[in-house]
Amino acid sequence: MSEKIIIGCDHAGLDLKNTLINYLQTLGIEAVDAGTYTKDSCDYPVIAKDVASKIASGEYKRGILVCGTGIGMSIAANKIKGIRAAVVSDTCSAKMSRLHNDSNILCLGERIVGVELAKDIVQIWLSTEFLGERHLRRVNLIEN
Ligand code: RB5
Repeated sequence: MSEKIIIGCDHAGLDLKNTLINYLQTLGIEAVDAGTYTKDSCDYPVIAKDVASKIASGEYKRGILVCGTGIGMSIAANKIKGIRAAVVSDTCSAKMSRLHNDSNILCLGERIVGVELAKDIVQIWLSTEFLGERHLRRVNLIEN
């Protein structure tokens, strides 16, 4: 796991984002922090668009977005072509979103998942490879 991950949040996801940046460091993964950096209220679509655009352009392969529920971030990120953002609150979905959907953004809700579960989700999401084959055909159908 030596890839660089871009990670962003809104004010409601700040604590979990900071925790995950430290956690990623323990896994030997560099996390590039796309903000927000304070608890001042901000608009999640702005952060989602920034992170998603950098993944869609190929600057980063994958990223993580955290807000209160993960939902707003995923809706906004999925507006960008090439983005497959999955809101995940359990380890099975984390794994399946990689195996079958080749998700390239993981969205988490700080108000929904506990810290230890969030870490497990991130670890599984990062270490699970896309299965390809029939799933690739389906993922391509989303794009075209
Ligand atoms: C902010 O209050 C909250 O709406 C936001 O973090 C997110 O949960 C939106 O989906």
